Parts: sequence; structure tokens; C-alpha cells
Amino acid sequence: MKRMLSGIKPSGQLTLGNYIGALREFVKYQNDYEMIVFIANLHTLTVYQDPQELSTNLRDTIALYLACGLDPKRSTIFMQSDVMQHAQLGFILSCNTYMGELNRMTQYKDKLAKGEESMTSGFYVYPTLMAADILIYDPAFVPVGEDQKQHVELTRDVAIRFNNRYGETFKIPQPLIPKVGARVMSLSDPTKKMSKSDALDKGCIYLLDTPEAARKKVMSAVTDTLGKIAFDPVNQPGIANLLQIHSALSGRSIEDLVREFDGQGYGTFKKAVAEEVVNLLNTLQARYRDIMDQGILDQVLSEGAAKARIMAEAKLQDVQRKIGLTIDATQ
Ligand code: TYM
Repeated sequence: MKRMLSGIKPSGQLTLGNYIGALREFVKYQNDYEMIVFIANLHTLTVYQDPQELSTNLRDTIALYLACGLDPKRSTIFMQSDVMQHAQLGFILSCNTYMGELNRMTQYKDKLAKGEESMTSGFYVYPTLMAADILIYDPAFVPVGEDQKQHVELTRDVAIRFNNRYGETFKIPQPLIPKVGARVMSLSDPTKKMSKSDALDKGCIYLLDTPEAARKKVMSAVTDTLGKIAFDPVNQPGIANLLQIHSALSGRSIEDLVREFDGQGYGTFKKAVAEEVVNLLNTLQARYRDIMDQGILDQVLSEGAAKARIMAEAKLQDVQRKIGLTIDATQ
């Protein structure tokens, strides 16, 4: 069985974008792949987090992983900071990554362009920690949304360089991007990605939003004045985004939806999208409450970390030997 790995950084509550672009894909894949899914909690620290809020977000994220259908019996589920080998390999990989490569990362360039003054050095090097998160488990595939593709490509470059320098060590992973919903856009500005760190709450649906709040956000989604339901992301980004959300949640093709809603008003179409979103939230939140009541989170995380640690330690030992960090007592 081929191995797959991915993670989510809970620097806020999980969003509909995380669900459509990543989480539901993980759940789908766990039948056919050996799935490793972790909570990238170290990554959240690249931007200041209120400790209390962070802790709540971590708890909600793990509960939502389970609520979405990730099964600890089939998948290895754990918290990044419980497997310290990630950080150690992260430092080693940062020494095999050039600043020129990090300077080309879109997220870094965006912050730089916005004149962000409080960028931490952790934020700058975080793609190398992400490379370690991946390479330490030798996955064949890394399912991610569109915005993370560049980081997986950097991971490949670093792995190839390392293998060339020190001999075959890492498997070269492939990013796996969903066909529909790889980039769910903000409801209030459909030219921007829906993001949990969005200051504008109206544009982002959180998986723990009340269904009524989510319905309102969909109903007030920014559209256009063309008045027709068509999939045209350039001229009608708002409608295209709503079509993608509907298609991702209902499983129906975009063409099919365009046909059904042809000639109908935006209000009717938005109601149908809202219905899909509300159904999802109702189901997820019922399971989330159930999981919270069961009190199983600590156990799931400690069992997952124990499994992950064994794999990560073996790879770290191999890396340390190859780069000469260990002494050879037989010489
Ligand atoms: P993060 O937490 O920003 O996002 C987690 C996953 O959700 C996807 N995603 C989206 N997909 C579609 N539309 C959106 N609006 C949307 N927003 C987010 C992301 O593409 C991603 O797949 N650095 C990573 C976390 C990470 C990681 C890893 C991922 C750390 N180490 C190793 C894979 C492998 C991040 O910040 O993702």
C-alpha cells in the first residue's frame, strides 16, 4: 500500500477551504493508502498565537479530523510537536536549502510585498520544516490544496539535492491536488483565497460556525451584475466559487449544476449552495459533539505519536549517519 501524508496548520478554526481542499480528500484516500495525517502545531508559531486560543484550536482540529471521518485505526493521526524528530530534521534540511529558494516562496513574497514588519525568522524557514514533516515518512503522495503545491515542489528539490549529496535517502513525493475545490475563494472577495487568518470573517466559513451564520455568509456572498449562472472564474469569480463549493459538497459536476440553475436568479442558486453547506455543518458538528463527549482525543494522539515516532526516528538515524553526525566506533 502506498503511503500518503498531509497536515493542517491550526492557526485558527478550520475552514470550509480546509475541508474541501484537504480534509475530505484525506478521508477519501485512507481506504486505498497508508495515511499519515498530523496537526502542524509548530507551524502555527510562525505568527504569534494567543496560548489559550491555540490550545482550543488544537483540540477542535483533532476533534474535527475525527468528525470528518479520519479513522485512527486506519490512519496515523498525531500532533507534530509530539514527534520531535520533525524539528531536528527540519534544521538539517534548512542547511540544505538556499535562501534564494526561500525568497521565492509566494507566501513570503506576499508578506514582503504587503510591507509586513513583524515577520519572524520561523516564518521564513517554515518551508524547510514542512519538507522535514514530509520527507521523514517517505510518502509517495502529499494531498494538498493549490496554495501548498509550491512547498511540496521545494520539498522535492531539497530531497533530490540531499540524495545527490549523501546518497539515496528520501523518496521524492508528489503533490496531489483535487480537481474541484483546490482553491476555495473568500465569499466576500472571490479573488482571494478563503483563509482562516482572514480578518474579514464574512468571507470565511468555519466548520464550527453555527449553520445559521454560515447560511447568512453564503447568502451575502459577493457575486456580479451579469445575472447568469455560468462557470467563468475570470468574469464571474463569485459564481464560479459557489459552483465549486456546491459541486464539491454535492458530488455533482459543475456542468450539471450550470444546466440545472440556468435562467434562475442568484438568490435561488445561493439558497441551494447554503443548503449544502448547512447539511455538511450539521453532520460534522453532531459528530464533533459526540467525539468531545467520548473524551478520546488524548488517547488517539498518544497512540498516533507512538506509531509516527518509530518511523521518524528510523529515518532521522539514517540521515544523521549519512551526513556524518554520528561517530563510527569501528574505525
Ligand atoms: P494550511 O493549514 O494553510 O492548509 C491546510 C490544507 O488546506 C488547504 N487549504 C485550502 N484548500 C482549498 N481552498 C482553500 N481556501 C484552502 N485553504 C487551505 C491547503 O492547501 C492545505 O492542503 N504548511 C501547511 C501545513 C503543513 C503541511 C505539512 C501540509 C505543514 N507541514 C506537510 C502537507 C505536508 C499549511 O499551512 O496548510
